[in-house]
Amino acid sequence: MTRYEQIKVELLASPKTWLVTGVAGFIGSNLLEHLLKLNQKVVGLDNFATGHQHNLDEVQGLVTAEQWQGFNFFEGDIRNYQDCETALANNGEGVDYVLHQAALGSVPRSIADPITTNAANITGFLNMLQAAKEGKVKSFTYAASSSTYGDHPALPKVEENIGNPLSPYAVTKYVNELYAGVYAKTYGFKTIGLRYFNVFGQRQDPDGAYAAVIPKWTADMIKGEDVFINGDGETSRDFCFIENTVQMNILAATAKDDVKDKVYNVAVGDRTTLNDLYKAIQAALIESKIVTIRQPIYREFRAGDVRHSQADIKKAKEYMGYNPEYNIDDGIKIACRWYIKNL
Ligand SMILES: NC(=O)c1ccc[n+]([C@@H]2O[C@H](COP(=O)([O-])OP(=O)(O)OC[C@H]3O[C@@H](n4cnc5c(N)ncnc54)[C@H](O)[C@@H]3O)[C@@H](O)[C@H]2O)c1
Repeated sequence: MTRYEQIKVELLASPKTWLVTGVAGFIGSNLLEHLLKLNQKVVGLDNFATGHQHNLDEVQGLVTAEQWQGFNFFEGDIRNYQDCETALANNGEGVDYVLHQAALGSVPRSIADPITTNAANITGFLNMLQAAKEGKVKSFTYAASSSTYGDHPALPKVEENIGNPLSPYAVTKYVNELYAGVYAKTYGFKTIGLRYFNVFGQRQDPDGAYAAVIPKWTADMIKGEDVFINGDGETSRDFCFIENTVQMNILAATAKDDVKDKVYNVAVGDRTTLNDLYKAIQAALIESKIVTIRQPIYREFRAGDVRHSQADIKKAKEYMGYNPEYNIDDGIKIACRWYIKNL
């Protein structure tokens, strides 16, 4: 039995209470779905900055009425310390594990508006960290980012070797790690940072100026609109299907103390170019008889983007028992089916 299978058995036998911040977003709502399906109690916190009520509604439709009863939602803002405290207090019942996902994602958004990104990602993060320490939770796991590798040229990316940040967003995510380290040293409050590499899957928002590449392209192809590739298409990423990310959050939250106060890459350990990604999405949609072959339109490289990204996932495997179950092709097929149904 893998560690993940083992933990799921234990959680089913002895349910816990989880706080998921950013619960109405892409990753948060997938965590919510998995935790409720494991009969856990979940407290959610979100201000709907980029999340949606329809994500929560969809999860409600995917779980039993009894499981949905285990969900307690607080509409609130992590930039407000009181809101963090309120969610953690959970009407006097408290929470065991925190999965802190709330933040403003997107490199271009942070370049256009660094002030708002800073407030959510740094002030909001510090509020949650402090409130969780004060609330004496059993564990605090947070969404870090592969953007922290910045201009470090080495591939694959190993946790200990980072470069200079290339965007305000990357600065905020690095500051999270610095605060996390200081909280371990100063207060003995040990956390785990998960450096996500391009996560994708069901409920990732295809709309808006800051949509991520997979939902944006999939939606554009389904609607028969032009698809743009920034640069020559040879930019590459370690695309990670959401189920792997959920697995890592559950493994991290329930990890022993001696593997805490660390950051871990969360990815597959693979690298796919944008040109190959385009072909993979198109192939999945052709298989579903949704589109026919069409060529992408190439345009300028985007500011702040790193050229290549690929994770070394040895540390996550060794310390966490992480075992990514989905490769990019499996994930693309599942995600495309979801977009076809839900767009
Ligand atoms: N998706 C990825 O590929 C990726 C990669 C690296 C890191 N991350 C990180 O993972 C986390 C989740 O990302 P996602 O892709 O699900 O994005 P998302 O935008 O779908 O979800 C973020 C959620 O946080 C909420 N939120 C934002 N500001 C808030 C605030 N001030 N108070 C309360 N809630 C707030 C939003 O409303 C949204 O529901 C973020 O921290 C992001 O930086 C994501």
